[in-house]
Amino acid sequence: QSNQFCDAGVGYPESTCGFSSSSSSKLLIKGGTVLNAHQQEVADVYVEDGIIVAVKPNIKVDEDVTLLDATGKYVMPGGIDPHTHLAMEFMGTETIDDFFSGQAAALAGGTTMHIDFVIPVNGSLVTGFEAYKKKAKKSCMNYGFHMAITKWDESVSREMEIMVKEKGINSFKFFMAYKGSLMISDELLLQGLERCKSLGALAMVHAENGDAVFEGQKRMIDLGITGPEGHALSRPPVLEGEATARAIRLAKFVNTPLYVVHVMSIDAMEEIARARKSGQKVIGEPVVSGLVLNDSGLWDPDFVTAAKYVMSPPIRESGHDKALQAALSTGVLQLVGTDHCTFNSTQKAFGIDDFRKIPNGVNGIEERMHLVWDTMVESGQISVTDFVRITSTECARIFNIYPRKGAILVGSDADIIIFNPNSSFEIRASMHHSRTDTNVYDGRKGKGKVEVTIVGGRVVWQDNELKVVPGSGKYIEMPPFSYLFNGIDKADAKYLSSLQAPVKRYFTAS
Ligand code: URP
Ligand code: ZN
Ligand code: ZN
Ligand code: ZN
Repeated sequence: QSNQFCDAGVGYPESTCGFSSSSSSKLLIKGGTVLNAHQQEVADVYVEDGIIVAVKPNIKVDEDVTLLDATGKYVMPGGIDPHTHLAMEFMGTETIDDFFSGQAAALAGGTTMHIDFVIPVNGSLVTGFEAYKKKAKKSCMNYGFHMAITKWDESVSREMEIMVKEKGINSFKFFMAYKGSLMISDELLLQGLERCKSLGALAMVHAENGDAVFEGQKRMIDLGITGPEGHALSRPPVLEGEATARAIRLAKFVNTPLYVVHVMSIDAMEEIARARKSGQKVIGEPVVSGLVLNDSGLWDPDFVTAAKYVMSPPIRESGHDKALQAALSTGVLQLVGTDHCTFNSTQKAFGIDDFRKIPNGVNGIEERMHLVWDTMVESGQISVTDFVRITSTECARIFNIYPRKGAILVGSDADIIIFNPNSSFEIRASMHHSRTDTNVYDGRKGKGKVEVTIVGGRVVWQDNELKVVPGSGKYIEMPPFSYLFNGIDKADAKYLSSLQAPVKRYFTAS
């Protein structure tokens, strides 16, 4: 086995990497139950040159076709993770997973595409985009980009148009927290929402009140609370609820769709529920850590253990996890991300004396599919087709790449996983494919196992072995004006005509 492409220090056993063994560009997946968000059926799936060309029972093929037996297993679209941070410079350091190690981990866990957040360089979107294209050169799967907006002026507004019309970006993230670095003002958020609307781009928010978090942090330090538990105590759910409500109301005022990233609390979730009930187009994205963990780890007396759970918004007290699961199962929340943003113990130790300096972020890109299956499907909360919807299809629809992605349909890209519901998984920091040395899900076991991952028609994960090639990844451009924008113009017209009515009354009365 060649190890030409095994990045030194990548942190996984030599036996798990190498070249692809399937040189054939033709693939037949036989006898499985094909899962789409809209239906399930027993069928074969035939792939040629990276594209699904047939989905039907009993497909007959020539001998040069690679066969995969999926009898008794599910064949479904590869996961799409809407929220990751690979090779991100943040809090004085850089995430330990780059576009190769993070993607290798993703593929081992059945995720075939992720959408990462480009951070502008000195406010410049174009420079930020070029920097991320460079970082992503070593990619081995599908990836797309959101773009963060960190300041506002004419050139940012112009560059947003370039990103949408020329660079394949259709979403912009606004940080309402991280005062002094990424945080934006309400004024900027309003301008950003207006600009997003005119471009048909989706506005995303990290919803926490950054000014209040800053005060909360000072409060903890003044009380002598400097450990990781201070992180959670300094930014309680009320601050997430407040910012979520504010962003939702501003988006309503502008009349543009809103996507709330990493919904971690009942407080935020209920704001989303209320807005959706009123007919507002608001998408809520819980992340795996918020769905399956609670804050108990942050109180662990061992700093290394406690610090690994530090992320923002914080992992909440027990109760929020179950409420978020219920919201996901009933459609109040629509899709699951990870916010994969890994720092190793050495990096986390920057904050040994002061929780404010612990780099924020947890792992999840490899674990998402298994944990969501075990937590949501095995518990009986959602169906197997719902699983496809919340891990793949809905993301593809929101970011306007469906049915190329997120479906097992004729003409779709051959990003496919074979999932064995009768097998089981176990998560160990010592066995995962991420470069980080800890895992917030360490020791978890559950039902179901991703046995085969296929990306662009190539088998990249089989028999617990990765066959990934850096540079084989593909940048996926995402066009603007997704389905979320349907009807926005009609609602605007209705609003404008409602303003005319009193004017008319005034003139006829005089
Ligand atoms: O703690 C987190 N979430 N780190 C990544 C940056 C962000 O806010 O998404
Ligand atoms: Zn190798
Ligand atoms: Zn965030
Ligand atoms: Zn994030």
